[in-house]
Amino acid sequence: MNISVIGTGYAGLSTGVGLAVKGHHVICMDIDENRVDKIKAGVSPIYEPGLEEAIKAAIREERLEATTSLEEAMKKSDVGFICVPTPSKRDGSIDLKFIEHVSRDMGRVLEGLEGYRVVAVKSTVVPDTTERVVIPNLEEFSGRKAGQDFGVGMVPEFLREGSALQDVLEPDRIVIGELDKRSGDALEELHSVFDAPVIRTSIRAAELVKYASNAFLATKVSFANEIGNMAKRLGVDVYEVMKGVGLDKRVSPHFLRAGIGFGGSCFPKDVMALVRKGITLGYEPRLLEEAVRLNQGQPLRIVDLLRKRAGSLKGRNIAVLGLAFKPETDDVRESPAIKVVSELLRYGARVRAYDPRAAENFRKVSPRAGYFRSAQEALKGADACLVLTEWPEFRELTDQDFSGMRERIIIEGRKALNPNRVSGFEGVCW
Ligand SMILES: NC(=O)c1ccc[n+]([C@@H]2O[C@H](COP(=O)([O-])OP(=O)(O)OC[C@H]3O[C@@H](n4cnc5c(N)ncnc54)[C@H](O)[C@@H]3O)[C@@H](O)[C@H]2O)c1
Repeated sequence: MNISVIGTGYAGLSTGVGLAVKGHHVICMDIDENRVDKIKAGVSPIYEPGLEEAIKAAIREERLEATTSLEEAMKKSDVGFICVPTPSKRDGSIDLKFIEHVSRDMGRVLEGLEGYRVVAVKSTVVPDTTERVVIPNLEEFSGRKAGQDFGVGMVPEFLREGSALQDVLEPDRIVIGELDKRSGDALEELHSVFDAPVIRTSIRAAELVKYASNAFLATKVSFANEIGNMAKRLGVDVYEVMKGVGLDKRVSPHFLRAGIGFGGSCFPKDVMALVRKGITLGYEPRLLEEAVRLNQGQPLRIVDLLRKRAGSLKGRNIAVLGLAFKPETDDVRESPAIKVVSELLRYGARVRAYDPRAAENFRKVSPRAGYFRSAQEALKGADACLVLTEWPEFRELTDQDFSGMRERIIIEGRKALNPNRVSGFEGVCW
């Protein structure tokens, strides 16, 4: 099928490339010219394992193109996925300005197009957004009727940054929220290239599946952190505990990794958006509020621990290894490292930071930190070291790599170091 992806960031680009790998013809559209030029040149504007190679191959096989023209993208496609950002407002509620904008523009283009098209929302949007915002805009600006002249669906995306392309290619499930049967049939046909169960629901249910999934996983992490905070006081390694818990099939071992809390562009904003949505519905989701609150305090625990061990941080050199919110990504949005580094700077420390991929993005958020090209360089002359992301290369570090430190205080915020190679470190919850 011919597909367009409107908004080609982490979610849109990975989805588009995945669909091209599976044999569809995909046109990526973005308002960011630089991004579009890079895709056209076979260069990935974001770092995701395997993505750039897949872009190059898809362009070579003429299954992927890119444009800044919404009209061209929609003209050339049967289904258009909306993948624009849905950030938070100051109060944590969802900011729909990009959705408002793109749905109006798509409506305008639809007006002049012949033939049946389906618009599918893939951005994470709070329940009723597609029906309350997207459909009315499409109808008003096209002068056509949804469910009759064109189709509408909501197909949430569950990919994880760091393994985005693989997740698109091998999804656990496909959820299709459909306005009507014809829209759902078209979307099911498009997804038939994947070997995964398909669940067809109402549009609102599909929107809520995405939030419920993220809220559950975020709550699971906060639960592991709660147990971890107690385990630390008990002198127990919470990873031993969670191994014992996670082997229970009813629990599963995933998302039980205690540490400095969840970050990234999805969990923090999505859980808050769901909380705010609940409140507008007259219901206060207290379990989720607490999961968020616990998470907000979690990164600061590693700084408290450091101050207990090192005393005053004023004028001290602190090496920070890992800035991305998780390994295998250059994304630093809501990374716990942002809070940790700003707290270190607030206490007057000098930060010596290193990350294999995310330093460039982090520098924009924290220009006052010092950035180094390797862990060893960052560690040179350091009075303490905090490890904040579990990059595989940190697992390879040995005592020798830490030998340039002036004082040897090493604290992990994630299970990153190998105790057989490095001695005398501790973790935030272990
Ligand atoms: N990042 C993830 O892991 C992930 C996973 C699942 C779902 N999502 C959801 O997908 C959506 C997009 O997230 P992202 O992380 O890919 O964002 P992003 O910021 O990485 O990318 C969004 C892209 O949309 C473009 N854009 C903005 N307005 C546009 C317009 N009117 N027309 C065309 N392009 C436009 C931007 O230039 C940008 O390139 C969000 O709703 C997010 O919650 C993200």
